Amino acid sequence: MSTGDAVRALRGRLLWFVDDPHSAGEAAHRYLADGLLVIENGLIRAVGEAQALLPTLPADAAIVDHRPHLIMPGFIDAHLHMPQTQVIASYGAQLMEWLNRYTFVEEQKLAQQGHAEALCAFLLDELLASGTTTAAVYCSVHRRSAEAFFAESHRRNTRMIAGKVMMDRNAPEALRDTPESGYADSKALIARWHGRGRQLYAITPRFAITSSPEQMAAAQRLVAEHPDCHVQTHIDENRAEIAFARELYPQAADYAGIYEDYDLLGPRSLMGHCIHMEDREWRAFAAHGAVAVFCPTSNLFLGSGLFDWARARREGVRVAVATDIGGGTSYSMLRTLAEAYKVLQLQGQTLPAFEALHAITRGNAVALGLDHLIGSFEIGREADLVVLDPAATRAMAHRLETARDLDEQLFVLVTLGDERNVVATYVAGERVASAGQRVAAPAR
Ligand code: GUN
Ligand code: ZN
Repeated sequence: MSTGDAVRALRGRLLWFVDDPHSAGEAAHRYLADGLLVIENGLIRAVGEAQALLPTLPADAAIVDHRPHLIMPGFIDAHLHMPQTQVIASYGAQLMEWLNRYTFVEEQKLAQQGHAEALCAFLLDELLASGTTTAAVYCSVHRRSAEAFFAESHRRNTRMIAGKVMMDRNAPEALRDTPESGYADSKALIARWHGRGRQLYAITPRFAITSSPEQMAAAQRLVAEHPDCHVQTHIDENRAEIAFARELYPQAADYAGIYEDYDLLGPRSLMGHCIHMEDREWRAFAAHGAVAVFCPTSNLFLGSGLFDWARARREGVRVAVATDIGGGTSYSMLRTLAEAYKVLQLQGQTLPAFEALHAITRGNAVALGLDHLIGSFEIGREADLVVLDPAATRAMAHRLETARDLDEQLFVLVTLGDERNVVATYVAGERVASAGQRVAAPAR
């Protein structure tokens, strides 16, 4: 092993996935009860049994002993809204009323000097404290909100996907761009941020209701000009929303057809919610390789409905899991999994612990097309990871006394876990958050 660059090694119980446990079963995960993760230049250099790897380390390697804690790849959140950190827990409304009464009010504040910057710092602190190291993020309509998010993420060296929302109708005047300005601002942000350090751009027409046909065509042009950018939008979340979207685009086959008509339904498209899907829409998703993003805490909180994961599987539709802050009610992907389990239970479906933990690590990395970079501990991956104490709370420690095997222990973690279980979070090999504190981003 070279001694040129500082080598860091983390020791603990290691768990990661190399395949999908739903199809590959036991062969999908790797678990080492006393493992060592060797990191060099922010990348995973080696992984294996501690006893075997320790003698191979250079003499000056820094070893952090996290035993008996569990070390996993950093969690990935496939859909959330940066401007909505103060929209969370807004009472008593379903989607369209909730947008008008709460969300659009808060989003206007991002025009104020310094507000976006403050929210971005808060959000990234909160995500890292929850063990989330990558997220697909909606900013506000203001170009500077995306500028602020990327600048803060770049400073922290986090791998983030984000975009300025495009919306030119059915929203307050102060939150509307135009087809031309939405295009030009997105274009400028792509030029400045897409592929810079670890930042990636998502072309972000909010949803068909808030984009005119002219703006959808502008988004279509952006996709044609930047095929390596993601697309993120919303679809089939709420019955009133669907009826309104269909009214606005009467010529489309259905809601999915609206996006299809503008080439916005592709393999890099992250389609939020997908609850009330028609047969043809499932087929369109499968045909285009589009990703259905399941946001359980939001779907329950806004009374939107139950996402049918078994149907998505049957149809061959790719699925990602997300918080949807601030329709969603927790920053924690563990808490999100607990609600996912309940949503599926209500439909006679289950979510085994291994499948759940796969979903928020390698599964979401695959859905985002980033599994060659993040989501596992395979050699060469970026060293984003979370250290978890499955017995962090009294109730969890008590319950774990009777857990007989790893599967059962992990199910307790998935069902009762949240940010209190996060002992530390590492971004590209650097420790950026520790239990009970907010650690400042490393200067760079
Ligand atoms: N549809 C359009 N915008 C939004 C949003 O901000 N949150 C949710 N949950 N759905 C949306
Ligand atoms: Zn959303």
